[in-house]
Parts: sequence; C-alpha cells; structure tokens
Amino acid sequence: MTDSRALALEYLKQQQLLGGDSVILTEEAGSREQGADTTAPAPGPAQAIVATPAPSSQLPAPGVSFDPPNADLFSTDPIQRAASLQDVATLVAACRKCGLCDTRTKTVPGEGAATARLVAVGEGPGRTEDETGRPFVGRAGELLTKILAAIDLPREQVFICNIVKCRPPENRQPQFDEIAACLPYLYRQIELVNPKVILAMGNTAAQTLLNTRQSLGALRNHIHRFRGIPLVVTYHPAALLRNPNWKRPTWDDVRIAARLLEG
Ligand code: URA
Ligand code: SF4
Repeated sequence: MTDSRALALEYLKQQQLLGGDSVILTEEAGSREQGADTTAPAPGPAQAIVATPAPSSQLPAPGVSFDPPNADLFSTDPIQRAASLQDVATLVAACRKCGLCDTRTKTVPGEGAATARLVAVGEGPGRTEDETGRPFVGRAGELLTKILAAIDLPREQVFICNIVKCRPPENRQPQFDEIAACLPYLYRQIELVNPKVILAMGNTAAQTLLNTRQSLGALRNHIHRFRGIPLVVTYHPAALLRNPNWKRPTWDDVRIAARLLEG
C-alpha cells in the first residue's frame, strides 16, 4: 500500500472512530448517519474537513446523564473510604486489581488542585507518564496545558487524571476489565474534588464516564451530566497531534466548558 493510501485509510479510521461530522466513506457509506456531509475531499489529513456548528451564545442541548451512586459511607471498601486525593493515590500506588500492574513502572493517579473547578479526564498514562508518575506530561500533555491556558486555566488549577491509572503496554486502549477494575478510583476522585465541570477527552473517557457506546462525534456539542455535574466531551489531545483539523472543534468544546465554569 502506498504511503498516501495508508495515511488516507488511517485518517478515515480516525474519522469513523471519532465521528467527525464530515466523514466521507465510499464502501461504508451505508453505515453513515443520515444527514452527514457527502462531499468527498481528497484523502489525507491536509484536506480533511470537520464541520462544526458556528459557536452561538446559547449552550448546547442536554445529552446523556449517568448517575453512578456516590460512595457508601458504611462501606468497608478502602476506595470508598478514602478521605482525600492523597489517600486515593496511596491506594492506587499499591493496586494490583488488574493486569496493568505487571507492566507499569509508576502508577499515575492524577494531579492538580483538590478544589479544582474542572476535572479533565484522559484515557491512560503513556510512556512519559509511566516514567514520571504524572498525568499528561508528554507531547499530548503539553498540548493539554496550552488548551487549558487558552481558557485562562493554569494547569495547577485543574485536576487532571485518566480512566486507568497504569499504562497499557504499547499505549493500547485499556480493556473493558481494566477500566472496570480502575473506575472506582476515578469515581472517588471526582466525588472528592466535586468540580463544577468535567472535561472528557477522547472516546474512552467520554464513553466510560457517560456509560454509553455513542461515538465521540455524536457526544460532542452536548452538555451531558455525570452525577449531575455538567460534562463536556472533546477530542483527546493526542488525536489533535495527529489531526490538527480537530483543533478548531476542540476550541469550541473548551469554550463551552469555560462558559459553564463562569455560569
Ligand atoms: N494520554 C492520556 O490519555 N493520558 C495521559 O496522561 C497522557 C496521554
Ligand atoms: Fe489498579 Fe487501575 Fe493500575 Fe489496574 S490500572 S492495577 S485497577 S490502579
């Protein structure tokens, strides 16, 4: 396969996965959502079109609500009894609840302000995160820091974390059993921080936190709720590094989050 064909295929796969509004497929056209744009661009990221609605002063419509129960005060589960983010991090450091514990270097529980108004959730640690024990410190992390700065949020004022706290080998997607094992930590972290807004970055974070299989494209541009807390879905910063065309829609998404923080 030629390089440009491989690139085009990768791009189409990403679009399909992330549900961009202008996905153009030939063979798979039948599986597209009705009303999708059918203009065929030349293949390759350079020509990619991602249609986003013009930002309006109105907030997007409500989306999915997911209400997992809060911690049970009488539980004997140490995660539910964790009284601080530090307590959660200590439990994570010793955790062996899933297979990822065998290949991790350091656990990456998350970091940021305990009183953060925004919790930003990614997928799982990458190489640099695994080496340092800190979330979003590699290239994707640099981009996230810039995205947050764009809405006047210094990184330190946000609580930044991931769905799974240990690095999946070769940065593969975390598996369902790994996510299920790790999720109680994230639930407790969100409960302790009690933010005003949650930003779910990428498919894994969005689908897990909303308990849905809907695509990122379908989930974007709605105000969802996680335990009543407004939740905004956007692209993962690593996806933006691969496809800069998603920067604009990401900008639209984070502005929605910023407006919710103000309100
Ligand atoms: N990607 C993630 O999802 N999380 C990180 O911490 C870094 C990269
Ligand atoms: Fe435990 Fe989560 Fe690490 Fe699995 S990924 S070992 S559940 S902390």
